[in-house]
Amino acid sequence: MINNIAEIKDDILMSIKDIESVEQLQTIRVKYLGRSGILTNLLKDLKNVNPQDRPLYGKLLNDTQRFIEQNIDTVMEKLLSRDKLLREKSESIDVSFSKITAKRGALHPLTKVKNEIINIFIGLGFSVEEGPEIEYTKYNFELLNIAADHPARAFADSFYITNDIMLRTQTSGIQARVMEKQTPPIKIVCPGKVYRPDADATHSPMFQQIEGLYVDKSVSLADLKYTLELFAKEFFDKDTKVRFRPSYFPFTEPSVEVDLSCAMCHGKGCFLCKNTGWLELLGAGVVNPIVLENCGIDSTVYSGYAFGIGIERATMVKYGIPDMRLLFENDIRMLEQFK
Ligand code: DAH
Repeated sequence: MINNIAEIKDDILMSIKDIESVEQLQTIRVKYLGRSGILTNLLKDLKNVNPQDRPLYGKLLNDTQRFIEQNIDTVMEKLLSRDKLLREKSESIDVSFSKITAKRGALHPLTKVKNEIINIFIGLGFSVEEGPEIEYTKYNFELLNIAADHPARAFADSFYITNDIMLRTQTSGIQARVMEKQTPPIKIVCPGKVYRPDADATHSPMFQQIEGLYVDKSVSLADLKYTLELFAKEFFDKDTKVRFRPSYFPFTEPSVEVDLSCAMCHGKGCFLCKNTGWLELLGAGVVNPIVLENCGIDSTVYSGYAFGIGIERATMVKYGIPDMRLLFENDIRMLEQFK
């Protein structure tokens, strides 16, 4: 039995020497010290040992038991602290790691320009009115003096839903809606989306306009020019000049195309103004008395001016953007330039 015990000690030292995990060590503990472990069985056998020898064997077995426990405990401690270190390493935060930041959004250039234009006119005493994108032909055309045989009414130039309901082709319909309801003075700007079946570098099937309307006693073309000049100086720069060219719109008489001196070359000529020194920006005029009467306003008492600005056009002119499609592609590299 004494030999046996010496062997047990050697065995245990051997088996814990290269132990890898806490689980393996537990198995060894059970093998020796478990309920039917090797040492436990020897202790159970003690009752069969000759009574004089019993104290000696008992002591020997107890010492061995302590020896095994101590050795297992030492290795256990090592394994546990190794595991703790590994865990800490895997859970630790690397403070030198470069931070992941969410990209900051920004308003789309068209929204920025729209807001800017609206704010300038609010500063000039205008208020904001909106209207439906799905519009009656009555407001989009009839009240605005666009007769049934006017070329703009051809089906190819508009998106129709029924014979008398369509996607509006211009924000001018809002002025008719407002004039029908309100008595002058009326001083409004009307932003909104409009739709036409065109698509190329300078046309899009959907684009935005801002309509302006001022109706009161003795409003004239001179008031229009003064107001648009103030607008242009604020929107571009204070040296911007405004030029009126005669034009035709059914809802204004006289009608004008409004050009601004080129913001990029200041009139010298460049790619943006196609070497003319001028940029076409908007259509405008004195409200046709027929339109006033159509909307229930006495044209012998009141007069007005109106204008329509294309927001995409204004954005392209302001930032020198050559192709309208760039504004709708949502290419982040392009949009980031407007942050
Ligand atoms: N509605 C016109 C268009 O879509 C723009 C316009 C021109 C509006 C002259 C007006 C105006 O109010 O007086 O091209």
